Amino acid sequence: MICEDESGAYPLPKVKVALIGVGNCASALIQGLQYYSRFEKNDGCVGLRNLILGGYHPRDIQVVAAFDVDSRKIGKDLAEAIFASPNCAPKFVDVSTTGVVVQKGPVLDGVGEYTRHLVQVSSLPEVDVAQVLQASDAEIVVNLLPSGAVKASEWYASQSLKAGCAFINATPTFIASNPEWARRYEDTGLPLVGDDLVDQIGATTIHKTLLQLLSRHGVRITETYQLDVGGGAESLDTLERTRNLKRAVKTETVKTALPYEAEVVAGSTDYVDFLQNRRDSFFWVRGLYFCGASVQIDMRLSTVDAPNAGSTLLDVIRAVKIALDRKLKGAVLPICAYAFKRPPQLLSLELAEKMFEEFIAQKS
Ligand SMILES: NC(=O)c1ccc[n+]([C@@H]2O[C@H](COP(=O)([O-])OP(=O)(O)OC[C@H]3O[C@@H](n4cnc5c(N)ncnc54)[C@H](O)[C@@H]3O)[C@@H](O)[C@H]2O)c1
Repeated sequence: MICEDESGAYPLPKVKVALIGVGNCASALIQGLQYYSRFEKNDGCVGLRNLILGGYHPRDIQVVAAFDVDSRKIGKDLAEAIFASPNCAPKFVDVSTTGVVVQKGPVLDGVGEYTRHLVQVSSLPEVDVAQVLQASDAEIVVNLLPSGAVKASEWYASQSLKAGCAFINATPTFIASNPEWARRYEDTGLPLVGDDLVDQIGATTIHKTLLQLLSRHGVRITETYQLDVGGGAESLDTLERTRNLKRAVKTETVKTALPYEAEVVAGSTDYVDFLQNRRDSFFWVRGLYFCGASVQIDMRLSTVDAPNAGSTLLDVIRAVKIALDRKLKGAVLPICAYAFKRPPQLLSLELAEKMFEEFIAQKS
C-alpha cells in the first residue's frame, strides 16, 4: 500500500481518459470504476493494490471517449458496449449509463486473420480521432488494442500526440520502449508509459519469484518452463501474430530472475475457446539441491484475464495523471518498470516497486 489519504479531502480534478479498444480489458476497467467508487476506506475493499494512489481515488477517473471498430459496440454507450460480443469478460456489476458513446476508429491491422470471424467490422465512417480526443478534453489515452495491432497502436500513439494526450500502451507493441517514440513524446512535453501491462496475479511475476526464492535457498535450477492457454479474442490473436514476440519478451524477463544460465522457456501457447476469458498457466521447474538431490515442481494457476489487468490499469492511469501534474515528459521509468513487462529498462521486481513508491511519494 503506497499512499493512503483517508482525510476525505475530495474532490481532486477528474482524470480524463480515452480508451482505444472496448474489449475485455476495457470491460474490467469500466466495471472496476463503478465497483470501487463506493469504497471510502480499505476496510472491506478487496482486490485493489491501492484504493488511494497519490491522493487519487478510482472514482476520480472519468472515461470521456472510447474507440472501437466492431458494429456491436460502435454507437453504443460504454455501459452497453463492454458487454457486447465477442467480449467474454465476466459481469461483476451493472454499469450505469456513462454518456460516452463508442466511436469508430480506422481498422488498420486491428483485426487479424484468426479473429476475422469474431469481430464484425462496422461500415460506418471513421471519426477524426485526434479531434474527438481534443473535444472530449481527454488527457490520457489508454491503448487496449489486440496485441497484434502494431500499426494501429502506432497510429493511435500519433493521434494521442497530436491531441496533446499522455499515452499508456498496455499492448506488447514497442512504443514506450522504443527510443524514437519516447523522444517524440519528450519533444511534445507529454508522458508515455508501456509496454505490455503486468497482471495483478502475473504468471511471469510468480515464475520469477519462485525461481528467485529457490535460487536464494541454494537450489540450482536446470530447466524451467511457463506456458499458458486462454479463451478470449486476445489469446486467438496472440496465437496468430504475437506468440513469438510474447515468448521472447517473457523468456528474457524470466531469465533475469536467475544469477546463472539455465534452460528457460516462457510464453503463450494456445487458444481453447471454451475457456472464454479464463487462462490456465502451467509452471514446471527442475533443479538440484543438497548433495545433488533432484527436485521437480509442477504447478497450475487459473485466472480470469480481464480483471487481472484492472488493478494495474487503475494504478497506471493515476500515476500518469501524477506525471502530467508534474509536467514530466517522455517515457516515465518508475511507472514503466512497475507496471509493464517490457519497460525501456528492465529492473528487478524489488527495485521497480521501490522506485514507483518513491515516485508516488515525491512532492511535485
Ligand atoms: N490481463 C489482460 O487482459 C492483459 C494483460 C496485459 C496486457 N494486455 C493487453 O491488453 C490488450 C487488450 O486486451 P483485451 O483482452 O481487452 O483484448 P480484446 O481482443 O478483448 O479487445 C480488443 C478490442 O480492440 C478492438 N479493436 C480492434 N482493432 C481496432 C482499431 N483499429 N481501433 C479501435 N479498436 C479496435 C476490438 O474490436 C476489441 O474490442 C492486448 O494487447 C493485451 O495483450 C491484457
